[in-house]
Amino acid sequence: MSCTPPAGSGRTCMGIVDEAGRLDRAGHPVIHLEKGELDLDTPVAVKQAAVDALAADLTRYSHSSGLPELRSAIAEHYARRYGVQVTPDRVVVNAGSSAALLELFLALLDPGDEVVLPDPGYPAYPAFVTAARGVPVRAGSARNGFRHTAELVRPHLTARTRAVLVNFPSNPLGALADRAELRAFAELGPLVVADEVYHGLETGGVHSPSVLEVTDDAIAVGSFSKSYAMTGWRLGWLVLPPRLAAAVTRLHSDLFVGTNTFTQWAAITALTGADDIQRRLRAELDHRREVLLRHLPRLGLVPAHPPDGGFYVFTRQPEGTGTSAAFAAELLDRTHVALTPGSVFGPSGEGNIRFSLSAPAERIAEAVDRIGNFLADRGVLAPAAG
Ligand SMILES: Cc1ncc(COP(=O)(O)O)c(C=O)c1O
Repeated sequence: MSCTPPAGSGRTCMGIVDEAGRLDRAGHPVIHLEKGELDLDTPVAVKQAAVDALAADLTRYSHSSGLPELRSAIAEHYARRYGVQVTPDRVVVNAGSSAALLELFLALLDPGDEVVLPDPGYPAYPAFVTAARGVPVRAGSARNGFRHTAELVRPHLTARTRAVLVNFPSNPLGALADRAELRAFAELGPLVVADEVYHGLETGGVHSPSVLEVTDDAIAVGSFSKSYAMTGWRLGWLVLPPRLAAAVTRLHSDLFVGTNTFTQWAAITALTGADDIQRRLRAELDHRREVLLRHLPRLGLVPAHPPDGGFYVFTRQPEGTGTSAAFAAELLDRTHVALTPGSVFGPSGEGNIRFSLSAPAERIAEAVDRIGNFLADRGVLAPAAG
């Protein structure tokens, strides 16, 4: 299970994705703005590197923590981008950041240990914690203007708090954090686990600092999925503090033996071209975001938080449209626009809806037109003039 179904909605969080797929297959003109992945292809050079690795029969086990060459390339990436020194033996490569987070909590938590999570936040986080017999604690940020800060987390700390998870740029809000904010999380005391999978996709040339810029004693979680357009390759990593590296490495070797070898060779090419790949992704996303933000006021929709990174825009729902799950289901049914209900991101997300910039700008503009007509029909919006 990848998320918690919204209470009483009768839906799973995959409900919209599944239903949108069903409508698609039945020939309906669905606009997919619900996906946690872009419609963009993996860069050609990365694909070629995988083909080359296969042709060279690089198909046997790699070192269980990842190819030494890839772990060195990840360490160099931290030096180049963040100015931090990481030794390759602190890096563990896994099948996406999802597997990496699950394994981390399995290694870290004793039964009953608590992990403070952002709310709204990525829906799978509570599942990783509960699978490790930990207790997810949600720091609801709706009443804090959707700002996930150290001060918001502090009242949730107890003697059982083992870790505080942060995610910037965030899903679903697109929020960023600067170094001072990351330092404040680190100063709370418990280990900070920083999900940095949307790094490289910030707007306006902003650099998202890694948690490793403020402390060595934290965990940085990375992935090739989002910021390299490689979701289906299933490759992510952990950078561990020296005191935890051995334990996680051992567990990883027992549980996973390793991850695909030929994809790891291709990932080295992705890291080598990171600046270029991400410059192109950012340019496309900036365009899509600008189109959506320009049109949203027509729908009376206001972002709950400035979307400064990642590829989502989280907006408040129009008044009188029911729960977010009901609203998303009705929108899909009536307009064939697929959006994600805010409630799947936690209780703090209720009353909101997430747009993913997962389709080209013209499809986004068309989605806004369809939603506008639907809201006008429903009497929520005045009909468009002319
Ligand atoms: C915030 C966040 N973290 C982690 C993941 C998992 O990504 P992957 O397992 O593909 O690296 C996602 C996917 O949507 C996400 O949004």
